[in-house]
Amino acid sequence: MEKLDLRLSAAADFVKEGTVAVDVGTDHGYLICYLVNEGICTRGFATDINKKPLESARALIKEMDLEEEIETVLTDGLKGLPEDEIDEVLICGMGGETIIGILEDADWVKSEKVHLVLQPMSRADMLRRWLCENGWDIDEEKAVEVEKHLYTVISADYIGGKEIPDDFYCLTGELSGQSDEYAIKYLRWQANIQRGIASGLLRSEKEKEHALVHIQLADMIDEQADEMENYI
Ligand SMILES: C[S@@+](CC[C@H](N)C(=O)[O-])C[C@H]1O[C@@H](n2cnc3c(N)ncnc32)[C@H](O)[C@@H]1O
Repeated sequence: MEKLDLRLSAAADFVKEGTVAVDVGTDHGYLICYLVNEGICTRGFATDINKKPLESARALIKEMDLEEEIETVLTDGLKGLPEDEIDEVLICGMGGETIIGILEDADWVKSEKVHLVLQPMSRADMLRRWLCENGWDIDEEKAVEVEKHLYTVISADYIGGKEIPDDFYCLTGELSGQSDEYAIKYLRWQANIQRGIASGLLRSEKEKEHALVHIQLADMIDEQADEMENYI
């Protein structure tokens, strides 16, 4: 098996040792095969909503002689899985909204026993907000750059309750404050997105106040990135 790319390897780093994991939307099966092969997970489930990706995961599982340890399941999200057996839910390479939909449909993940590792391809802000408002604590994040695209990988534990995060947190999460080159790049990127939204809004006189909110947010994010640069 080839080495995992930086995105999946950052996700693998968050997985706790000795656990049973489900890799939702496994596609080629790289992540779950790596975790079981390395002995990080004792067993695992590889699921996909589409037959073709699941077939390619099956081929890799067979090639790596992991058929006893990894079960493949053709399903939508987390439906029909043996919930009592799973400690790690990994959802990587999907949009933030899709990830939220998958978690919303599986109430059993709301448990202190279950740890989430999520890697949204888009709308990470929406995902962070949803996690905080639905009882999850984002304990760690890692920013990675793959082929000029920046991504975050989120590690979260269920603690119950409801937190209302502010917009700054939703856009920067636990990357804010890290002395890490990619976390800084991520914050700069988020600040630029806010400036882009503001310049669009400024085309209309009646949206001026609304635009100022985005400019303020961009300034705050850039200031934080400046500070982070001092520690690098
Ligand atoms: C872009 S691939 C990501 C593959 C891998 N997880 C990664 O990060 O490299 C997305 C995969 O998720 C699957 N998928 C999309 N929606 C899904 C859902 N609701 N339940 C299960 N799998 C899903 C797709 O069929 C596809 O194989």
